[in-house]
Amino acid sequence: MNNQWKDKLAVVTGASSGIGEAVARKLASQGFRVVLVARRRERLERLAEEIRVEGGSARIITADLTSETDRARLCEQAGPADVLINNAGLGWYGYGDEMSWKTAREMLQVNIEAVVQLSLACLAKMRKRNSGHIINIGSISGSLPSQGVALYGATKSFLDNFSTALQRELTGTRVHVSVVRAGPVKTEFGEAALLHENGSHLPTEKMGITAEKVAERIWTLIRRPRRFIYVPDYLRLVPWLELSFGWIIDRMGPLLLKKQRSGA
Ligand SMILES: NC(=O)c1ccc[n+]([C@@H]2O[C@H](COP(=O)([O-])OP(=O)(O)OC[C@H]3O[C@@H](n4cnc5c(N)ncnc54)[C@H](OP(=O)(O)O)[C@@H]3O)[C@@H](O)[C@H]2O)c1
Repeated sequence: MNNQWKDKLAVVTGASSGIGEAVARKLASQGFRVVLVARRRERLERLAEEIRVEGGSARIITADLTSETDRARLCEQAGPADVLINNAGLGWYGYGDEMSWKTAREMLQVNIEAVVQLSLACLAKMRKRNSGHIINIGSISGSLPSQGVALYGATKSFLDNFSTALQRELTGTRVHVSVVRAGPVKTEFGEAALLHENGSHLPTEKMGITAEKVAERIWTLIRRPRRFIYVPDYLRLVPWLELSFGWIIDRMGPLLLKKQRSGA
């Protein structure tokens, strides 16, 4: 075990499933004390127990990240994080005009407001200590405006911009802010999106890499901080594709959405 990380504190939001769960397991196995955050208590308790059985240290904090009060309580109860993984997020697939304001607001609260509130609370303390790392789980959708995920993609573009600007402010310090531009990952993300009014199956639902693969890449990011990473790596071609061939997406994208929507 790398002693450099032993007993460091990692706060992982959205740890009750998918990428967050895999990252929490990975960091605990490397010696971090992990704080697991989400709404589903039983899931968090089960994961914390499994981590302890493996010899790791885990604590749970249940919080609904749509709530400003819950977020403030989380910042207080978690303690000074060495690593904050802003992973909790939700998606929705369909025509923008069919999205209810309730779903849109929830998405803005979890995907943006929570990230900002938790990051600001941690950053000030990290700056004082001159050490720490905030990792925001973005998406390739943030670099590729796409039909069906207008608001979701926009929330991830926000994370790109916010993280990069903060990282630039932190140049010369030992505090880092990174964004993970992930492609499709096999998790419960698609199922969770269906729980919201008018949601359709995501076209990428059956594709994708495992959450464990993403966790491995996040672990490399912690050891060697960078402004952003693409997961998988080849997705770094996407911004170039959008610039050069965006006109194809303009034509094909709506057809794909129409087909997917009619099968909803
Ligand atoms: N899967 C993909 O294809 C993909 C691709 C690119 C990026 N991402 C991003 O990866 C992140 C994790 O997603 P995932 O794929 O692992 O999906 P997931 O399995 O559905 O996990 C989402 C997590 O967010 C938590 N969450 C959602 N709403 C919350 C709320 N109001 N309060 C607290 N926690 C909340 C959920 O916990 P509770 O329900 O227990 O609260 C869950 O732990 C998201 O930010 C997503 O945008 C996913």
